[in-house]
Amino acid sequence: MKAVVITTPGGPEVLKLQEVEEPKVKDDDVLIRVEATALNGADTLIRQGKETPPKGVSEYLGLECSGTIEAVGKNVSRWKVGDQVCALISGGGYAEKVAVPSGQILPIPSGVSLKDAASFPEVACTVWSTVFMTSKLSSGETFLIHGGSSGIGTFAIQMAKYLGIKVFVTAGSEEKLKACKELGADVGINYKTEDFVARVKEETGGKGVDVILDNIGGAYFQKNLESLGMDGRLFIIGFMGGVKAEANISFILAKRLTVQGAGLRTRRLEKKGEIVSEVEKNVWPAIEQGKVKPVVYNYFPLSEAGEAHKLMETSTHIGKILLLA
Ligand SMILES: NC(=O)c1ccc[n+]([C@@H]2O[C@H](COP(=O)([O-])OP(=O)(O)OC[C@H]3O[C@@H](n4cnc5c(N)ncnc54)[C@H](OP(=O)(O)O)[C@@H]3O)[C@@H](O)[C@H]2O)c1
Repeated sequence: MKAVVITTPGGPEVLKLQEVEEPKVKDDDVLIRVEATALNGADTLIRQGKETPPKGVSEYLGLECSGTIEAVGKNVSRWKVGDQVCALISGGGYAEKVAVPSGQILPIPSGVSLKDAASFPEVACTVWSTVFMTSKLSSGETFLIHGGSSGIGTFAIQMAKYLGIKVFVTAGSEEKLKACKELGADVGINYKTEDFVARVKEETGGKGVDVILDNIGGAYFQKNLESLGMDGRLFIIGFMGGVKAEANISFILAKRLTVQGAGLRTRRLEKKGEIVSEVEKNVWPAIEQGKVKPVVYNYFPLSEAGEAHKLMETSTHIGKILLLA
């Protein structure tokens, strides 16, 4: 089969489509013939050699995919050859075939094309397992999403609106904020021209928001503590603004705040299976009702993975970037 290989750590040009060995299918795995995979922030970091994939996972990039099952391991009962599925994977999506533990497979939601289904597993599992399963974000609450136009953000806006939550987003341009509003965001804040803390206070009558989903980390830590209301929850999923912060942590005590963080990729197999099953139960109905739609900015063939990475690094995209196998 063919897969995108990182020929040496470096820029997007180091990604090359090459002939490689097919993955081995273990007893609990299914083998998927990949239709599409999607880019994630971690892919560019691994390509540059700034992150290493966890031990024991595929050496190829790609944390999610959609496609058709080509073989099943002997312990697998739910899935059969020919089923069209999508999957959360720990690596290996940038290839024509990938072996995936059967607990990380999801059916294609009705109304979504096979290729566009590749845009959902990573964002749905990340957002559902963090702010919904852990931070218990609920109907009637307020929710601030940093990077509202990102793959994660465009999904989180729609899911939160479906569940009756008031959504605030930050983004770096008016065009991105317009896209967030079209997806349902109630309040858009251009972080380049406005102080998001002041705007959140103004829009909430001084109370602050209930939950924040943060991809910025260090640079926003103090401001996030200030933007939360009583019993507020901050969930950190990325460090685009660095890992160091100096902050007045008295807000944590005074407002009874909870600060949490988690990475999906490094979760144990059983936990990933639990998350995938909760996503099928809670998120898939919203997609099947047309309330949460795939937001795909562009499609590239697998052979142009480098071009796709270049686009992601310009950060001009809104939503997900897909690679078609
Ligand atoms: N922990 C986990 O399990 C997990 C899983 C998936 C993703 N993530 C993380 O989540 C983040 C988003 O992932 P993604 O795949 O959705 O990436 P993406 O589509 O490339 O989006 C990154 C976004 O960050 C925004 N951004 C950059 N600096 C910003 C700032 N100062 N304030 C607000 N927004 C800012 C960019 O838009 P602007 O032009 O508006 O700046 C862009 O929309 C990444 O950091 C990724 O590593 C974590």
